[in-house]
Amino acid sequence: MSSAQAPGGARCAARIFRIGVLISGKGSNLQALIDGLADAPIEIAGVVSSRPDARGVERAQAAGLETAVFSLADEPDRERRDDAVARWLEEREIDLIVLAGFMELLTPSFIRRFPGRIVNIHPALLPAFAGLRAMAQALEYGVRIAGVTVHFVDEGMDSGPIILQEAFELPYHRDIDAMSEGEIEAIEKLFHEVEHRLLPKAVRLIAAGRVSADPDNPRLVRVEPDG
Ligand code: GRF
Repeated sequence: MSSAQAPGGARCAARIFRIGVLISGKGSNLQALIDGLADAPIEIAGVVSSRPDARGVERAQAAGLETAVFSLADEPDRERRDDAVARWLEEREIDLIVLAGFMELLTPSFIRRFPGRIVNIHPALLPAFAGLRAMAQALEYGVRIAGVTVHFVDEGMDSGPIILQEAFELPYHRDIDAMSEGEIEAIEKLFHEVEHRLLPKAVRLIAAGRVSADPDNPRLVRVEPDG
């Protein structure tokens, strides 16, 4: 929604595309959005954390972004918690909700409230290794090619239509239980490098109106290439 054509052909003032980012942890993907969208007509209009102690909240505040914490510890009823999150996002007129390391399943009523307007980043080549511990699942399985997926969110677990994927080769690694903290961090870095490129790219494409569902099969996502 970067610009609009008014009836009669006059060009409306460019409208900034507004995103809300949901996090639970370190917020390195949030940081990638903050840095990677700085020159785009896209505003991070709010950051929601499911945990008060998430490092991502500090990152958001350091960037001058509005933040709110909606934790299940404060409101254990998921319907009510997610309704409060939805209202907070609606008040900020969010165009797109970006799950950037949000480690909880959202209720079906929340997802139905924002049809086709929620995306998630997942550190695996879906449909392989859905769910929690995706990176560990891939390492334990012994895959040689790992990857990252950005997809629309539906009511299943990491099962929505795929927007972007990127694969990379995994170096040889030992059994995950035998790996040192440093070895695990080195592998995590490989995933993060791809995530931090792919997520801002997907948001830019959506904001530019270059991502659409195939009318014949909404499972398939059409992405208009550059130029
Ligand atoms: C990322 O690997 C993301 O794919 C997964 O959770 C992790 C969050 O990392 N869903 P961060 O909080 O963005 O650093």
